[in-house]
Amino acid sequence: MDTIEIRKPDDFHLHLRRSELLRKVLPHTVNQFARGLIMPNTRPGPIITNEHVDNYRNEICSVLTKDQLAEFSPLMTIQITQETTPEIINKAEQARAIAAKIYPQGVTTNSENGVVDFRGLYPVFETMQELDMVLSLHGESPQEMVPGLEKEKTFLHTLRMIARDFPKLRIVLEHITTEDAVKCVLELPETVAATITVHHLFLTLDDVIGYSKDSKGLMQSHNFCKPIAKTVYDRAALRKVATSGNPKFFFGSDSAPHLKGSKECASVCAGVFTAPVALPLLCQMFEYLGHLEDRLEPFVSEFGAKFYRLPLNSERICCVKKEWIVPQEYDGIVPFMAGQKIYWQVET
Ligand code: NCD
Ligand code: ZN
Repeated sequence: MDTIEIRKPDDFHLHLRRSELLRKVLPHTVNQFARGLIMPNTRPGPIITNEHVDNYRNEICSVLTKDQLAEFSPLMTIQITQETTPEIINKAEQARAIAAKIYPQGVTTNSENGVVDFRGLYPVFETMQELDMVLSLHGESPQEMVPGLEKEKTFLHTLRMIARDFPKLRIVLEHITTEDAVKCVLELPETVAATITVHHLFLTLDDVIGYSKDSKGLMQSHNFCKPIAKTVYDRAALRKVATSGNPKFFFGSDSAPHLKGSKECASVCAGVFTAPVALPLLCQMFEYLGHLEDRLEPFVSEFGAKFYRLPLNSERICCVKKEWIVPQEYDGIVPFMAGQKIYWQVET
């Protein structure tokens, strides 16, 4: 098969940043996706009030042309900090934030204001459950004593606790990287789902720290993100469940652009800029796994929308099997797989 036409997809985990960076990265998403769930960990300040939600949505929309506005909708989120109150959540819901995101403190980019005490947020979860607002979790333990590679597995205790204590709260465990997370989400009720990125379907830890054949012994800072890619067994579990047709698992790119200087330096920012290659690489992976025709469309265009109780997109998009080399950079930002050959592209 050399072409595939599917319902236009959604990206349920997207970092768009602000100002100049927003202007640079947004077109790459608009070309492929009808909606994006916009992450709130922005700089200089995070999105933590209803005013922030409104301002950020307005900023995103002001960058879109009239035609783009008809084709793309930002779905807004608010960040939950230890100081978030039920009242803040109520107002955010009125400002049409459809999810509230928790970053455990210190685990990733811009998470200094993150959460340590999850039980302390129970009144907030209670309100979200009543309002039917989705809780979005960066699933890594904030405890310093938990080693980095164990952080996702350890966080699953917290996930189980919240799911048990708030049986009607819809929860998304974001960008899962381990077989343990897959198993846990499979075991938990229908209210708990997970996003899977495209880079975690391709990478293992060895592709980050320079042990894979492709990395030629060199550290690959552009593959560095949180949670970091894990083992081949973990990746196999992600590939299997992403192509299994289970509606609890859907696409969220976690496309997280950083300027080249912040990725090629001593203190490297976590985040992989996947937006320009997301759908082509998904076509490639689903084809490789023998599920391009039957399982790609539900994974990118249906399961997420259904979980978030949004209408399915009616527009369609076509991808063609045609090789191209990913550019070394887009306007000062190095994309995932820069300089490498990809076998599919979006037809424009
Ligand atoms: C994200 C970022 O750069 O904002 N980085 C990342 O490594 N994924 C934050 C996040 O989602 O963890
Ligand atoms: Zn993210």
